[in-house]
Amino acid sequence: MLHNSDARFRIEGASAAQQQAVDALAQQFLVSDERLAAIVKEFRRRMEVGLAADCTMLKMVLSHVVWRPTGRETGSYFAIDLGGTNLRVLRVTLDGAGGATTEHQKFVLTEDAKRRTLFDFVAQCVETFLDDRSLRPAASAPPLSIGFTFSYPIDQTSINSGTLLYWTKGLDVPGCVGRDVVRLLEDALLRVGLRARVAGVASDTVSTLLAAAYADPAAQMGVIFGTGTNAAYYEDVAAIAKWKGPDPPSREMAVSIEWGAFDSDELAILPYTPHDIKLDRKSLNPRRQVYEKMISGMYLGEVARNVVLWLADQRLLLDGRSSDVLNAMWSVDTSYLSAAALDDSPDLSEIREIIEKTLNVPMSTLVDRRIFKAIAILVGERAARLSTVGLVATLTKRPALLDRPLTVAMDGSMYEHYPGFDRIMTETVSRFIPARQFANIRFSLAKDGSGIGAAVLAMLATQHSAAAAQ
Ligand code: GLC
Repeated sequence: MLHNSDARFRIEGASAAQQQAVDALAQQFLVSDERLAAIVKEFRRRMEVGLAADCTMLKMVLSHVVWRPTGRETGSYFAIDLGGTNLRVLRVTLDGAGGATTEHQKFVLTEDAKRRTLFDFVAQCVETFLDDRSLRPAASAPPLSIGFTFSYPIDQTSINSGTLLYWTKGLDVPGCVGRDVVRLLEDALLRVGLRARVAGVASDTVSTLLAAAYADPAAQMGVIFGTGTNAAYYEDVAAIAKWKGPDPPSREMAVSIEWGAFDSDELAILPYTPHDIKLDRKSLNPRRQVYEKMISGMYLGEVARNVVLWLADQRLLLDGRSSDVLNAMWSVDTSYLSAAALDDSPDLSEIREIIEKTLNVPMSTLVDRRIFKAIAILVGERAARLSTVGLVATLTKRPALLDRPLTVAMDGSMYEHYPGFDRIMTETVSRFIPARQFANIRFSLAKDGSGIGAAVLAMLATQHSAAAAQ
């Protein structure tokens, strides 16, 4: 077992009972390669099921994106990138050489938007963006053409329509499930006097893939490890039994796996701890998105909070003290864990700040802080290792592609900021893919790919609908 030899989980100065509790946590949180291999197998099986039929655990959403950009396209496009935490409105200019410049504005989703007024909030932000830059089109002008990144699961019915399957990442806006999110957006824009036509709608994973593909012909996957987690990849249409449309000339289509839902409802194969189950039970979507709940930024702080309280309640941490802040759900932001995992100061002063100031617990000992750090490392490391399940299952789905250079475009706060996430993830993937093929894989950060990708999507959809009309 890793933890016995792993100095990170040997807590200097800890009592025997404290060390025993940390060992037990390490035992629960460190997932062995054998266990990962078994989970990958099941993940692959679920991918096949999802490609064969609708309404399965892995939705394998067919994006209707059957093109790749060449990188030589030019033009300016408006884009809306609706994520789990932020909304970005952009005007993207594609430079014809794989690059893009953007003008953009970021808005943090308000609690009201997340619970009630989402599409009106989006419309108001678009209005602000246009008015601040004097870009609002005249009433007589043709409707604005927009690319729309919508990072929630839809049943995609065409390149620019799709009905919301369910909300994820803490959103709970009534009246949207089962409705076309493009219509909801266009109607809200009309309410603020903006005539717009959404040229294309896509998952953030598809947009990230498209943004990367604009610059790099080897891009095959777009992956998000952020507030939520998911990936998209180009699938061979011959392998998509549920696709009933005509075979596209490219013979490929981008598919959004919706992998956050892996093991949902069944809770049969992932290595759940009581701390995960507690989080799940109290979440807005119990038994749903359970893979996402172990990997993504929205949830990891809460998993760690449950662990901290579990130890405190046994008087093995903070001498049993807590605070109103620490007792409140979601009060531990995942960014505190990143900061804690990074704290290498002799007295762990960053962690002291988090415990005593941010979480308002009056006092902490050095041993408390060492344990806190071990928790942050364990929760983050498990996330990084479990994230490889989806990556390995997808990368090995079309093995022939691994015989040449292949780029995996990644984005999201966990990938970008969680210390060690990138390293552990890459190292773990390397254990499951032959070295010769692994050497062909390039993991690259596609920063803000979901915004630029929405513009690439608008460009592709417009170009191909014009071609079809000729
Ligand atoms: C959630 C959403 C999914 C999105 C992912 C990453 O899992 O359901 O659509 O791609 O978060 O943002």
